[in-house]
Amino acid sequence: MKGIILAGGLGTRLYPLTKVTNKHLLPVYDKPMIYYPIQSLINAGIRDILVVTGGNNAGDFLRLLGNGSEFGLEHINYTYQVGEGGIAEALGLARYFAAGDRICVVLGDNIIENNFVAAARGFLDQERGARILLREVHDPRRFGVPVFEGDRIVRIEEKPKEPRSRFAVTGIYFYDNTVFDIIGTLKPSDRGELEITDVNNAYIERGELRWDALDGWWTDAGTFESLLRANRLVSETGANKITAASPGV
Ligand code: DAU
Repeated sequence: MKGIILAGGLGTRLYPLTKVTNKHLLPVYDKPMIYYPIQSLINAGIRDILVVTGGNNAGDFLRLLGNGSEFGLEHINYTYQVGEGGIAEALGLARYFAAGDRICVVLGDNIIENNFVAAARGFLDQERGARILLREVHDPRRFGVPVFEGDRIVRIEEKPKEPRSRFAVTGIYFYDNTVFDIIGTLKPSDRGELEITDVNNAYIERGELRWDALDGWWTDAGTFESLLRANRLVSETGANKITAASPGV
């Protein structure tokens, strides 16, 4: 399985912190933000990694990460998203890298306390389709929110005014290679983006979306409040812990 980190976008919600740099290069406690999703993939046993970035500071990713030797990697792949056409658009750029393999996608501003080895194993046991990770949150309105019938997800609503559950869809997704065909059918949403929630809803319509609950804390870091929270959580308890479920898939 290959790993893809989406670190494009303009980070406008963090302006002026993002005026002269990319959001994913900002510090979260003692490391740049992008270090955490890279470590998340490595802890799940995924070592073939593509970073999708964009904006005016893309070159800084190369200077910071090089070929990944700091993470014990032999190589990291990079590609560039022009503009801010959405998470699904950024993922579409990974088609040639994926080259028919299954993929694990992590949003560049998502940080986790533990690891998702169990979910990665579960996905590899699936014949086809997609798998997402959910986490109960106090403010579901900010996220993709699943609508359940029993324990089956029947729909995901993106940033609903009236959330139908207390869960957020985290920015950790597993897909088979048909994801790129699905992305090809998407139309931009009201906010002008190709939405990852539309991708997940397409898998739901096919009856091919499974889910797991993520254990430990999870946070994004794309707003002032969540960036502060990320700093606090990492400094207080540490991130990317190896548990009994590790190492690797
Ligand atoms: O964090 C989880 C949430 O992420 C999900 O619950 C939502 O369903 C999903 O839409 C997304 O919501 P956000 O509105 O918080 O996503 P944001 O625009 O902040 O983008 C998250 C990351 O995706 C960002 O750190 C970099 C990457 N990205 C985003 C855009 C818009 C790109 O690589 N390219 C893009 O064009």
